Amino acid sequence: MTAATELPQILVIDDEMGPRESLRMLLKPNYQVHTADCVEAGLKLLKEKQPDTIVMDIRMPGMSGIEGLRQIREIDPNLSVIMLTGFGALDTAKEALRLGANDYISKPFDAHEMQQVIDRNVERTRAHRTSENAAAEIKELNNRLLQQLAQKERLAALGQASAEFVHDLGNPLTIVWGYVQLLARRLEKSEEDESASSVKELKIIEQHVRTCRELLTMWQSYGNVEASPPKQISVSGILCEVLKGIAPMATESGVELNVTICQDPCTLLGDAVQISRAIQNVVVNAVQASADKKGKVTVVCAQKDFYVDLRIEDTGAGIQPTQLPRIFDPYFTTKQAKSGTGLGLYITKKVVEDHNGSIKVDSTHGVGTVFTIRLPLSAS
Ligand SMILES: Nc1ncnc2c1ncn2[C@@H]1O[C@H](COP(=O)(O)OP(=O)(O)OP(=O)(O)O)[C@@H](O)[C@H]1O
Ligand SMILES: [Mg+2]
Repeated sequence: MTAATELPQILVIDDEMGPRESLRMLLKPNYQVHTADCVEAGLKLLKEKQPDTIVMDIRMPGMSGIEGLRQIREIDPNLSVIMLTGFGALDTAKEALRLGANDYISKPFDAHEMQQVIDRNVERTRAHRTSENAAAEIKELNNRLLQQLAQKERLAALGQASAEFVHDLGNPLTIVWGYVQLLARRLEKSEEDESASSVKELKIIEQHVRTCRELLTMWQSYGNVEASPPKQISVSGILCEVLKGIAPMATESGVELNVTICQDPCTLLGDAVQISRAIQNVVVNAVQASADKKGKVTVVCAQKDFYVDLRIEDTGAGIQPTQLPRIFDPYFTTKQAKSGTGLGLYITKKVVEDHNGSIKVDSTHGVGTVFTIRLPLSAS
């Protein structure tokens, strides 16, 4: 589309060289002029140049100006078309106006009048295009708002559903918690050799059931004005616990899990349950993405000056470039068949940002993905 500051473009369609060339000479100082000696050539130029106004003779051999007008209207209903009529051919001029021409000028034309009519019609086309652009922008904005609203409504519905879910889950979880503890104590006292490894496994179950209970408590208090006060927590310690829980899942899926965790506790002021779920989401995704290829997941926790970097790298399926900008959106999932909710990374990003950190992703489709979570540490 022509920018408003550029010279307006005029397309002249006339089979007679005389009027065509005199129009070109007349208009050249103020307009970019394109000319065609028949309607077919004119239509081709119309598509290429997108002129602001067309000046077209009515009577031409081959396709007439009237037929040309009909075809122009199909291509661009808002483009100004001025018809050139023979002297005294008022009826033809009226017919052209009835069929959608915007103006007409009789031959031989007056140069000053021609200039005025063209200016008026260029203005008209441009006003139409501007309002069309504005309408398209408003439509796009409207679509975006509707999408955001739909997302908010889904989150609100989820809020209601999760309140009931949290309530319902509380009771069975308390029972499991009780029995796990009972079994753990019983095994600890037992004399048999194999009980040692069972105790270890049961401890892991116990730890994760505890996390579930803490998550439930957190969800129950969600929306309360007073959030739980932040505490000094160890990021490397939390990562160790998360990986202990995920290791059996990786083994089960044939995924090799390599871990390097720095010695430093990497302490920050925050919420352990939240950080744990944030890390867990990313590591679980990495294992899930690598399962089909029986790939590798490498987790590195490295402390730098004032922050800690958690790098979770996998050799899994990778993420398609078109999907990459959407992975942190709530409900974006490619795991519909595996009942993925698409909330994992959304939650992770929120938790990381609540702790003044950042999350970065780098992925090559078919090769693998690296997520880096950076969290600022407390001054020691
Ligand atoms: N390591 C990864 N490799 C490839 N794709 C990934 C990886 N991590 C995330 N994705 C893509 O991002 C999407 C969103 O991830 P997210 O964790 O938010 O939801 P999900 O894993 O699909 O569902 P849920 O977390 O509820 O199981 C995934 O469906 C997947 O397409
Ligand atoms: Mg996930």
